[in-house]
Amino acid sequence: MASVVFHSGERIPLEMHKVRIVQKLNLPPVEDRLDALTGAGNNTFLLNNADVFLDMLTDSGVNAMSDRQQAAMMVADDAYAGSATYTRMEAKVRELFGLEHFLPAHQGRACENILSQVLVREGDVVPMNYHFTTTKAHIVLNGGRVEEVFTDGGLQVTSTEPFKGNMDVGKLEALIEDVGAKHIPFVRMEAGTNLIGGQPFSLANLREVRDVCDRHGLMLVLDASLLADNLYFIKVREEACADLSIPQITRALADLCDVIYFSARKLGCARGGGICIRDRGLHDRLRGMIPLYEGFLTYGGMSVREMEAITVGLDETMDEDMISQGPQFIEYMVNELDRRGVPVITPAGGLGCHVDAMRFLDHIPQEQYPAGALAAATYLAGGIRGMERGTMSEQREPDGSERLAEMELVRLALPRRVFTLSQVKYAVDRISWLYEHRELVGGLRFEEEPEVLRFFYGRLVPIGGWQEKLVAAFRRDFGDSL
Ligand code: F0G
Repeated sequence: MASVVFHSGERIPLEMHKVRIVQKLNLPPVEDRLDALTGAGNNTFLLNNADVFLDMLTDSGVNAMSDRQQAAMMVADDAYAGSATYTRMEAKVRELFGLEHFLPAHQGRACENILSQVLVREGDVVPMNYHFTTTKAHIVLNGGRVEEVFTDGGLQVTSTEPFKGNMDVGKLEALIEDVGAKHIPFVRMEAGTNLIGGQPFSLANLREVRDVCDRHGLMLVLDASLLADNLYFIKVREEACADLSIPQITRALADLCDVIYFSARKLGCARGGGICIRDRGLHDRLRGMIPLYEGFLTYGGMSVREMEAITVGLDETMDEDMISQGPQFIEYMVNELDRRGVPVITPAGGLGCHVDAMRFLDHIPQEQYPAGALAAATYLAGGIRGMERGTMSEQREPDGSERLAEMELVRLALPRRVFTLSQVKYAVDRISWLYEHRELVGGLRFEEEPEVLRFFYGRLVPIGGWQEKLVAAFRRDFGDSL
């Protein structure tokens, strides 16, 4: 990490890159934002990007690419079978992770589909530090169930615990005892644990998990989609790793795993995915699914141009300047909001800034989706698109009752190297304003509710006329400002 001290004493992150391609943004007036939000069924996934000023929905497929990535895309080798581009990608993955076998897939959930179809049987249990939406959906679809074995402090919103993504190995042991190892197809660890605020696990914890897996003959699967952030946090927060290089930490983690899969929409800053496998037999079992669902074994649904970009992107992930940008900007945003009293997940994690809607809107019951309401209100207040990560992102129980989420979060993702510090300051300003007017915000209810992954395309309506009141307050306080 470049360590740059400001003479003024100011503590702000400094970009170690320069911007050479830009995209013009549009900030519609608040009245137009209300129209756009209504048209989108109050679901930020359904907004047109043309109506969004700062798109903080996700970092998936929208991180800025480097000049080297763009250049590599120009020399891609178009071939259905045996493309030199694929050979380069496979070699890079093997060099970084050291697992012998690799299978390409078009994105992260495709890896989850393949792993779940092959490994998960009716009645199986998959222990994990925390679930991710698509991961859980695939496991459940195949008759399995997810058991989360996070540590006691893992879900504590305000904390100084550096590794809230750690797995509680005592609870893991107890779970194995309870359900029996033969009903556990694998143990899953997620780097940069997405749904609890991009919180990392430590190398020491992964070692402990490996020990438990070894004692019970269990396979350890790593979801490395958010590995870049987790690598950075291990480097700066885990004392024993301070002197290790990023490639060394990567190898130390990978050496403990039987399978590593990733969404290259996140890891490697392009679009694609893949599964690294240690065991030849398992590779052969998984392999048959690639031509069925993804494409031939040497592209797996990815374009050759994207594969070239991934190869370079994975290589650049080993650069501390590159992987520190996201966490440092996120930390800035989290600390600025925290200073203004806005409830956010601390310590700052990776991926983005996570606002705690449970406390922000403590007058809205969970059945009225406080995190969904806050995401809608954040768009109204600033043209900022975040993502609901709470009860809306859960699925109803088979009897139709709501499964209330453990956390109600609005995730404001900071795609890497995309936003400037002044844009982050603008977001802090609008969210702080919204916090001061939080009593104006009301709940939401579903108007159209899909059964599976409803948060993606369900449509909601506001309960009461709170949105018009919020728009009026905005006009009162900001005058003619957009
Ligand atoms: N695992 C994790 C930890 C993820 O964050 C994601 C995607 C996936 C798997 C699935 O990968 O999208 O390539 O199919 N997360 C995105 C997000 C959707 O916005 O956080 P994918």
